[in-house]
Amino acid sequence: MNFTVIYVSQSAHSFTNAELNTLSSKAASRNAELDITGLLLYSGKYFLQILEGDYNAVNTLFSQITSDTRHHSLIVLTGHPATERLFPKWSMGVVDLRLSEDHDAELYDRICTQSYPTVNDAAIEALKLFKRKQRHVNRTQESNDAA
Ligand SMILES: Cc1cc2nc3c(=O)[nH]c(=O)nc-3n(C[C@H](O)[C@H](O)[C@H](O)COP(=O)(O)O)c2cc1C
Repeated sequence: MNFTVIYVSQSAHSFTNAELNTLSSKAASRNAELDITGLLLYSGKYFLQILEGDYNAVNTLFSQITSDTRHHSLIVLTGHPATERLFPKWSMGVVDLRLSEDHDAELYDRICTQSYPTVNDAAIEALKLFKRKQRHVNRTQESNDAA
């Protein structure tokens, strides 16, 4: 069964570009082996990650991620069976919102901290932001592929 998990967490410290790149390239190659796809957004303070793939693979990886000391205060926004993948081409598309021209990091921090009526509302807001960021993610992924 195909399964999707979306969570937010707080980073233990502000990641440098090099740290984020290391995390992202290791994640992408491991996810490719596990046939897991998704997105990781980073604001300098919060992560928001979408993991999608086989139920068992996603759960095993997710439990490893939860015990990673590079982040804490992890909140699952949603975990649900999914008929399709949202990001079938991205083994892990990583977006550093600090590099965004329109300073979306602030908006993103609000999404992560604001109390929404339901966690799904928070996930939907975050997904709207992802949609707006898609072009940037594509560019990031293309430059990762070229590297
Ligand atoms: C925010 C965040 C997201 C991560 N996402 C992934 C991921 O998508 N895939 C992955 O293999 N590791 C990811 N990791 C790294 C894992 O937590 C862990 O380091 C990795 O699975 C290797 O585990 P190991 O060091 O026990 O071998 C992530 C870590 C953090 C902090």
